[in-house]
Amino acid sequence: MKFHSLIIGAVFAGASLGAFAQAPASSPIVIKFSHVVAADTPKGKGAEKFKELAEAATKGKVKIEVYANSVLYKDKEEMEALQLGAVQMLAPSLAKFGPLGVKEFEVFDLPYIFPDRAALEKVENGPVGAMLFKKLEGKGIRGLAYWDNGFKVMSANKPIHLPDDFKGLKMRIQSSKVLEAQMRALNSLPQVLAFSEVYQALQTGVVDGTENPPSNLYTQKMNEVQKYVAVSNHGYLGYAVIVNKKFWDELPADIRTALEGAMKEATKYTNDIAETENKDALAKVKATGKTQVYDLTAAETAAWKKVLLPVQEEMKSRIGKDTVEAVQKETGVLK
Ligand code: LMR
Repeated sequence: MKFHSLIIGAVFAGASLGAFAQAPASSPIVIKFSHVVAADTPKGKGAEKFKELAEAATKGKVKIEVYANSVLYKDKEEMEALQLGAVQMLAPSLAKFGPLGVKEFEVFDLPYIFPDRAALEKVENGPVGAMLFKKLEGKGIRGLAYWDNGFKVMSANKPIHLPDDFKGLKMRIQSSKVLEAQMRALNSLPQVLAFSEVYQALQTGVVDGTENPPSNLYTQKMNEVQKYVAVSNHGYLGYAVIVNKKFWDELPADIRTALEGAMKEATKYTNDIAETENKDALAKVKATGKTQVYDLTAAETAAWKKVLLPVQEEMKSRIGKDTVEAVQKETGVLK
């Protein structure tokens, strides 16, 4: 997306909100909700659920247009588009806020930082989650909710059971210094690529492997071009549902309240289905019989942890010691 088309989008978006203020009650407010994954994922289904609930709650006064699979913007561009007002709502992965300058969000990318989903929810719904959303305000962004996806698996075209197996592999990552450090700790070569480019990059050998929650791996058909999956659960991938702050603040109060209610319900729905969606996706990858899905043994997991846990310490200076330790305390790792 070129800069000038973002500007044009922003002008249109601004015009449509301005128009609403004077227009007859019958012309709906349009909220463009853009995201990069398939419709058949926890985030994709959550976006559709929000659309259904929000349109019903506002009785046609708001129209939600959901754009899945990067049809409007690739990952980096969608954040710019939101800030300019060309789209009103996004649900980027939490890793996407580091490059925006809010490095504290990268705490979510740290390997093995969350022992389970309960620990994760405690952090998102507690003071750390609130503090992170507060930091977005200065960027013209309002955080509405945290949406789950899941714990990540690793994939490649050779078996990857132990850290040594990663040596020299080119591994696709999101743009995150923490994920970069994680891949370097495994002696692999991290390569930043937009999500929409990963399938082709794997197919053509631009990269050898990647990490994903199973729902993303399967719905992008990455398993077609990856012979081996290691169920490592070494890190987490989830989202923040965000809106353009100015747009949101200028909505009529009753509309905003109705949308907040719809978001609350859509969040519960998404977070309730996330684990099952990922289990089902992994089962589907297995069922193809073409990709070997390998569960790490306890000894192998211990070897991964030995190599990856030091990344938590190493990245404290970047993410902020307070943030990392606040998460470690909430999850019970640090007393
Ligand atoms: C990725 O780039 O791997 C993820 O951010 C995709 C997503 O939104 O789940």
